[in-house]
Amino acid sequence: MTAPAADQQAITRWRSDHPECRTFYLSPRGETLTQAGVIQLAEYDHLILLCGHYEGVDQRVLDLIIDGELSIGDYVLTGGEIAACVVMDAVFRLLPGVLPNQDAYEKESHMAGRLEQAQYTRPVSWMGIEPPDVLLSGHEAKIEQWQASRRLAETLRRRPDLLKDFPPEHDEWRGMLEIWTDADDASEH
Ligand SMILES: C[S@@+](CC[C@H](N)C(=O)[O-])C[C@H]1O[C@@H](n2cnc3c(N)ncnc32)[C@H](O)[C@@H]1O
Repeated sequence: MTAPAADQQAITRWRSDHPECRTFYLSPRGETLTQAGVIQLAEYDHLILLCGHYEGVDQRVLDLIIDGELSIGDYVLTGGEIAACVVMDAVFRLLPGVLPNQDAYEKESHMAGRLEQAQYTRPVSWMGIEPPDVLLSGHEAKIEQWQASRRLAETLRRRPDLLKDFPPEHDEWRGMLEIWTDADDASEH
């Protein structure tokens, strides 16, 4: 544990120059980081991530200068630096200009309570396995519908708990049922 005065002076100095700055202490006791939390963190212009070692950080420092505590999961690391890197990486990729465009992350896992659908790249045929026909159709609307319904199917299968806060839209259910119906029809021939 570092001496309270050193932590407190460094952070107070920075915060006085940047009053809009938010300070978070990385801690296994903190609120578990989620993509929704990352989106919120990405909105701040300045962040200080305070990392502990050994027993952590003196409670008086925490009481005086932090805005919240963040955990990266229910396990204990030796120090907060790796946890801070995890937070930084998740936040940086949402900042304008880091990824080629917003589409690159908007349909990713944990954005809007869904897990990503299966991804396919080139070559079209690999080891004799082809991607689903719809992805080669060039029909944008159908591809989008296929992806949305596959995101719902993946989420239902792997993490149904995510649907509690993001219940499926009518179109998502409909798309998923259409895919299942088509698959049933195909298997009968
Ligand atoms: C050995 S841990 C201290 C654990 C503390 N004694 C407890 O039981 O809650 C040392 C430091 O690692 C960091 N750390 C450990 N686990 C973490 C986690 N799951 N999320 C974020 N930071 C973590 C924190 O900064 C913490 O102060």
